[in-house]
Amino acid sequence: MTSLTDTEDPQVYYKIAAKYIAAVKPLLTKQNDNDYGILGALLGALRGLYNIHQSHHWQVQGTSFYADHLLYQRLYEGILPEIDSVAEKLVGVAGPVMTNFFLQQKLMEQFMTLAVTSNPSTPLHENGLRAELLFLALTNLCIATLKDNNLLSSGLEQTLGTVAEKHEEHTFLLQQRVE
Ligand SMILES: [Fe+2]
Repeated sequence: MTSLTDTEDPQVYYKIAAKYIAAVKPLLTKQNDNDYGILGALLGALRGLYNIHQSHHWQVQGTSFYADHLLYQRLYEGILPEIDSVAEKLVGVAGPVMTNFFLQQKLMEQFMTLAVTSNPSTPLHENGLRAELLFLALTNLCIATLKDNNLLSSGLEQTLGTVAEKHEEHTFLLQQRVE
């Protein structure tokens, strides 16, 4: 396995996840003054992650082009049904207000900005891995926060657990992608 020690330290991602939540909190409070803001933030992050993998699907080049092209397709296609399932859970508990597309666009942008490095020489798979690890930390933070506030129903817990499981798989796939 490639030695992306700094990139793979989970504690780093909990800090960035907390930074993302703090950055988007004013937007979510403005839109919807309830406790499910973190779930709206998770939806925006998931859509940002989809966008990162789909862009990488188009951006790959070089000797492993075809394998990478298919890998990123597998990643973003795996996310599409999750977006719908998280969004519908969100609407079920908090109404449709946080699915507003201008709000979601801002959340996606904030997530993508924090998820990938601005260094153009960073390999695509490393940025993809960073984004997956950040999303995973955010999912775990979302589960813990909702649980602490007694807002985590069994169904919601199961949905978010399934999402976390999928992104553990994505993380594994990207970790095997050695330069
Ligand atoms: Fe394609």
